[in-house]
Amino acid sequence: MKIKHPILGIALSVALFGVGVTSSFAADETLRSLAEKNGIYIGAILNSQWFGGGLPSQYEQVHKTQFNIVVAENEMKFDATEPQEGRFNYNNGDKMVKYAQQNGMRVRGHALAWHSQVPNWVNNYKNDKQKLLKVLKNHIDNVVGHWKGKVAEWDVVNEAISNNEPQWRGYSVWYQGIGPEFIDSAFVWAHAADPDAELCYNDYNLEQGVNPKAKAGFLLEQVKRWVANGIPIHCVGSQTHVEDTTTDKHFIGSPDSLRSLAKELAKLNVKLKITELDIGFKSGINVSKSDLERQGQTFRQYLDIILEEPNADTYLIWGVSDKWSWLGGLNRQKGLIYDDNLKPKPAFDSLLVRLQNFEPPQDTAATDTTKQDTTVTDTTKKDTTVKDTVGLDSTISIARSAGPGSITTQLSGHTLLITGAKSAIVDVFDMQGRPVFSAKNVKGSVDLKIPEGLYVVRVRDGSTNLTRRIAIK
Ligand code: XIL
Repeated sequence: MKIKHPILGIALSVALFGVGVTSSFAADETLRSLAEKNGIYIGAILNSQWFGGGLPSQYEQVHKTQFNIVVAENEMKFDATEPQEGRFNYNNGDKMVKYAQQNGMRVRGHALAWHSQVPNWVNNYKNDKQKLLKVLKNHIDNVVGHWKGKVAEWDVVNEAISNNEPQWRGYSVWYQGIGPEFIDSAFVWAHAADPDAELCYNDYNLEQGVNPKAKAGFLLEQVKRWVANGIPIHCVGSQTHVEDTTTDKHFIGSPDSLRSLAKELAKLNVKLKITELDIGFKSGINVSKSDLERQGQTFRQYLDIILEEPNADTYLIWGVSDKWSWLGGLNRQKGLIYDDNLKPKPAFDSLLVRLQNFEPPQDTAATDTTKQDTTVTDTTKKDTTVKDTVGLDSTISIARSAGPGSITTQLSGHTLLITGAKSAIVDVFDMQGRPVFSAKNVKGSVDLKIPEGLYVVRVRDGSTNLTRRIAIK
């Protein structure tokens, strides 16, 4: 990864199991299969409740169908893996690794050196620098060593920068007891324990600009120093816990700012990953359909960074369903892409459509500029025979196409003729994935009330669906 795919397979033939819920999405279209075609990872945490078997089977079905990278919400943190000094507990982490292996998913490890979720016994040594160094080294040696070759990437250091004036975070046992050099050391130890693992610095509020007064600007200076000093850092994780733009008056972050950080990191040969995305609304407010659609566009704008920037390869969401989300504690709600009933939200649609219609820039096609890996098979090469016969030829005004099921469509002017569907739902999206037209109970044909241009149309009937690019003339 990342392998840019020159020809996007608009007609998908990859048959994965359906999401298993009352969703109207068909078995053949998943975020995962489309992400793999685009050479990126798309993922979600396994929520803590999953480890205790406390979630419905639909949850896991959605998770393994839609995602190809996984991280544990809490189960690989310091307090979970070394609850008592020198006594390591890998049970839950092992459970996740096994799940990932069974389902062909990449594993992220989160997190090694963090000020939070540190067990109390560590604080006993807060005034003993030499001992704290030993504690941190021993933890990293053991934990990274245990999952060597199984955990592909680690958040080696998490949230070490303070929020206000960018500087190192003061309230951290590691910072107070050791000093900022705990960071450099942690990377070196992690690299020694698993030389093949990708090592990240992970933090939040990195989407707020790359100037020296913002966290990302401060971080960039540190990354430059680490790279110049040979510290083994391969990636920056942007947590990207953000609020919907209209409900957070203090919101100053943006996908564009995060993209600028990606571009700066590219100059240093360091990757950017989105590691904990959620886009919440303030708790208590009514969230309308158009709010959810706008939220979907923000999800899509962050995905664009991962699709378009050559040094960005991972898009990880901090949860699956709004029902199981940490956001309540932040006074936020509804920040994920599935609703309380595990039904896909408009944000899911926006991501799916964007993954369907993304075309890599021609000049960077098929160039893999980044680090080698991994556990996910590159399926892109297998379907170079799939051609989109419609989109690029602007002279075509009638397109006939056959889908994976029995549905076929034909476009004549603004009229979409549909065969093989008893009662179809027709959705049309613009090339940025924004919904522009929708009709239910369509029998035979529908008049698409949209201006001239290129679009993606999706026709769904029961569990069969067809997605095609169309040119309205
Ligand atoms: C959160 C979990 O989601 C909660 O269950 C837990 O109580 C606290 O931590 N940044 C991180 C994650 O790096 O580890 C945090 O996860 C969310 C913010």
